[in-house]
Amino acid sequence: MRASVCAALLVCFLNDVAAHQFTEQEMSAVRERIKSMFYHAYNSYLDNAFPYDELRPLTCDGQDTWGSFSLTLIDALDTLLVLGNHSEFQRVASILQDTVDFDIDVNASVFETNIRVVGGLLSAHLLAGRAGMELEPGWPCSGPLLRMAEEAARKLIPAFQTPTGMPYGTVNLLHGVSPTETPVTCTAGVGTFILEFATLSRLTGDPTFEDVARRALRALWRTRSDIGLVGNHIDVLSKKWVAQDAGIGAGVDSYFEYLVKGAILLQDEELLNMFHAYDSAIQNYTRFDDWYLWVQMHKGTVSMPIFQSLEAFWPGLQSLLGNLDSAVRTFQNYYSVWRQFGGLPEFYSIPQGYTVEKREGYPLRPELIESAMYLYRATGDHTYLQLGLDALESIEKISRTSCGYASVKDLRDHQLDNRMESFFLAETIKYLYLLFDPTHFLHGGGTEGDGSWEEGGEGGQCVLGAGGFIFNTEAHPLDPAALYCCSRHSQERQELRDVLLSLSQPREKADSQSKAANERAEEPAQSQSESIALKPGERKTPPALSCPVQPFSARLSVLGQVFSDNS
Ligand SMILES: *[C@@H]1O[C@H](CO)[C@@H](O)[C@H](O)[C@H]1NC(C)=O
Ligand SMILES: *[C@@H]1O[C@H](CO)[C@@H](O)[C@H](O)[C@H]1NC(C)=O
Ligand SMILES: *[C@@H]1O[C@H](CO)[C@@H](O)[C@H](O)[C@H]1NC(C)=O
Repeated sequence: MRASVCAALLVCFLNDVAAHQFTEQEMSAVRERIKSMFYHAYNSYLDNAFPYDELRPLTCDGQDTWGSFSLTLIDALDTLLVLGNHSEFQRVASILQDTVDFDIDVNASVFETNIRVVGGLLSAHLLAGRAGMELEPGWPCSGPLLRMAEEAARKLIPAFQTPTGMPYGTVNLLHGVSPTETPVTCTAGVGTFILEFATLSRLTGDPTFEDVARRALRALWRTRSDIGLVGNHIDVLSKKWVAQDAGIGAGVDSYFEYLVKGAILLQDEELLNMFHAYDSAIQNYTRFDDWYLWVQMHKGTVSMPIFQSLEAFWPGLQSLLGNLDSAVRTFQNYYSVWRQFGGLPEFYSIPQGYTVEKREGYPLRPELIESAMYLYRATGDHTYLQLGLDALESIEKISRTSCGYASVKDLRDHQLDNRMESFFLAETIKYLYLLFDPTHFLHGGGTEGDGSWEEGGEGGQCVLGAGGFIFNTEAHPLDPAALYCCSRHSQERQELRDVLLSLSQPREKADSQSKAANERAEEPAQSQSESIALKPGERKTPPALSCPVQPFSARLSVLGQVFSDNS
């Protein structure tokens, strides 16, 4: 199996054409085109689909998909700021505060609600100062958008009340987890919470969110196989792996992404150690000629020699870790698939060099453009701008309709689906724009960026945006400086409370009190190193990932045959 795959992999359709060099004028013209794409879709959503979750671009109306919370508007909010539209950002932020209600009888995907709704609101909250909104005194450690994010996240907490700490995939926002809910969820659905939940905890001072996210991550970590891999779907009650395909794509992808980005956002070595352990198993068992295949998680034998469009985030993640050479080669493989079809099919058979039946669609996903953005930042190579321009041209040509942009149902004949996912405005457009705006403030770079930082917090002591931003898996930027600033404030308040308490109490009691407080403070660090850090020679089972590829209504048609279902 491996040998024949490797032989087929040698087929290479890449010519090394010297990249066209874009002038600043050309880049600026491309930025204007991206803006007009955004407004074409965005205005059409407002005119035809709001307050539904999504626009239907063929019938020019709206529908609820992932919930019933005007999802496209929440997801697109920070993109307005990225494009510099402060007045519209302010208008939409207040519409959302007035209209969105999370007390609704809706069965929602825990994963999707977190990355799109909680992530979108957190990011909008953190960018509210830059958008010129009126800020309440405690901002960024408090604010109306933060309270909305917290309210949405609280609705997800019941899903985490399992014996393992791994969450159910679906929760009813009003009633909690249904007694008939399936315990099977994808790996990413377990391990894609730490960015949003730690941000919430550190901004608000309530540790609940970060605690449940960490518990789920640690539980997943302990289920990895003897060869260090995790599968695709797991039973959150029994910890049994239901789908045992290990890879970096659908069902798993953002788990690995969150270990890396969580390590960066929180300066957390435990998360980075987990990732490095997985990465060495991934490189050893799944990588062939800079493609990544799917293998059986216990044996390491190839189960599916396919590339999935969701995997295209990987070169960007590698570049965040400094593995540039490998990132560039993998990107070239993926770009060759793009050029073959003018888009990335959901699945691509590497040995056959062609699409996979029933997976020929291209729902305007962002991942390849996202990687191009990171690699252009890292290398300055204009090849990545060329991919961006190719993407823009083919989205315009294939998927533009009179009222938006439609998912491509089949890249072979350019049939369209009546669907425009909210990630098109949240991610695809945002990463495309940022690719062509290398000095944008979201790239970091201190004062060289456009409007480098702002102050906030009690007494204006927070210096924000100075250390760059971390994007969640829905492209919502989070500011590490705000987390640091707010957790410092709540720590100081706690210390002040302890001091006041000790002053008001007899000496002996105060001593034991502060000792208890010290012990409390040490607990997290201790339990971290015990339960999470890799011990030399330790060989255990691997953790899980998330399931962003399918709507939750279809997610379990796939049980155990994640890649061959007919949905
Ligand atoms: C901001 O968005 C609104 C709504 O689409 C639009 O009418 C307005 O012209 C935009 N402003 C800028 C500066 O682009
Ligand atoms: C949510 O799911 C449960 C269990 O499948 C079902 O009984 C209930 O009717 C669903 N509720 C809604 C609003 O769809
Ligand atoms: C790499 O894979 C081989 C089998 O293909 C295995 O024997 C070896 O232990 C693996 N090494 C690591 C570091 O996983």
